[in-house]
Amino acid sequence: MAVKKEEETIYDDVKVKHKATEQTPDTNNVSIDERSDSRRHHYQQLACCLGTFCVILVLGIIAVTVYQKQVMNLTAENHSLREKNEQLEAQNKGLETEKENLTEQIRDISWNNLNISRSQWSIDAYCPKENNKRTCKPCQNGWDHVESSCYAVNDAVRDQWKTWEEAQENCREKCSDLPVVINEEEKKNVSENSWKYDGNKGYWIGLRVEDGIWKWLDGRNLTDSSWINQPPSDGHCAISVQNEGFKSVNCNEKNRWICKKKAVVV
Ligand SMILES: *[C@@H]1O[C@H](CO)[C@@H](O)[C@H](O)[C@H]1NC(C)=O
Ligand SMILES: *[C@@H]1O[C@H](CO)[C@@H](O)[C@H](O)[C@H]1NC(C)=O
Ligand SMILES: *[C@@H]1O[C@H](CO)[C@@H](O)[C@H](O)[C@H]1NC(C)=O
Ligand SMILES: *[C@@H]1O[C@H](CO)[C@@H](O)[C@H](O)[C@H]1NC(C)=O
Ligand SMILES: *[C@@H]1O[C@H](CO)[C@@H](O)[C@H](O)[C@H]1NC(C)=O
Repeated sequence: MAVKKEEETIYDDVKVKHKATEQTPDTNNVSIDERSDSRRHHYQQLACCLGTFCVILVLGIIAVTVYQKQVMNLTAENHSLREKNEQLEAQNKGLETEKENLTEQIRDISWNNLNISRSQWSIDAYCPKENNKRTCKPCQNGWDHVESSCYAVNDAVRDQWKTWEEAQENCREKCSDLPVVINEEEKKNVSENSWKYDGNKGYWIGLRVEDGIWKWLDGRNLTDSSWINQPPSDGHCAISVQNEGFKSVNCNEKNRWICKKKAVVV
């Protein structure tokens, strides 16, 4: 019996011990759960952080890649734009030379047209059509042919009489000048055509006082002083009067006038 009791106590003891051992894991179990919970939480946080970091990293990489790609695109674009610019500049240069060339051609064409219209004018003026046949003459109609010159005696009506300057301007419009008289014979001929009118009026010729001396339009001096009786006085010009030779009058007087130009050789 004693053994049994002993056994029983041992058994109890073991039971207690077992209980004790049974109890300890209970308390231990709670703390382990709590700890693994917090660790899991930590891991979760870490994973979350890592995940976020990864996402940020990936986004960053994407951003950098996109940026690089854009920079590359821009550089390529810049390059192609620069090339295009160079091309356009070259093209522009080419167009400019072409424009100069065309401008030159236009000038030539207008020159040519001008020449043609001048030639046509000359042909019509010097070779007028009569009975469908052109006959060429050294002087235009209305001009007198004397030796190698053509003279036009401008018998204008009173309100168209001109000052010496205006008369010269009128001759210039007709590709001529007031006459420069070369010799005695020409003087006589010009004088013969300078009919008196309105008392003692005459025709302007290309002689006037310049720097105190009588000068012809072509710059030569009047060599024969007997051709005009009055001494040179500033503002005076010469008229030709029939049977009276040359006379000095104020250049602003209004008179008729004679024009002279070279005859055409036909
Ligand atoms: C484009 O090229 C020009 C000239 O080489 C340079 O000054 C500019 O910085 C470039 N721009 C870009 C966006 O590459
Ligand atoms: C202008 O163009 C014509 C025809 O295109 C060419 O023959 C000529 O040489 C050119 N002239 C100049 C000065 O470039
Ligand atoms: C027009 O005539 C001038 C001379 O009067 C000459 O120098 C020029 O070459 C001519 N132009 C043309 C296109 O024929
Ligand atoms: C003067 O007129 C005559 C007759 O019209 C002419 O024969 C002569 O060539 C003329 N002389 C001059 C220099 O004009
Ligand atoms: C015209 O006459 C002036 C003064 O007498 C003289 O100085 C000048 O050299 C002459 N001119 C000509 C072209 O003979």
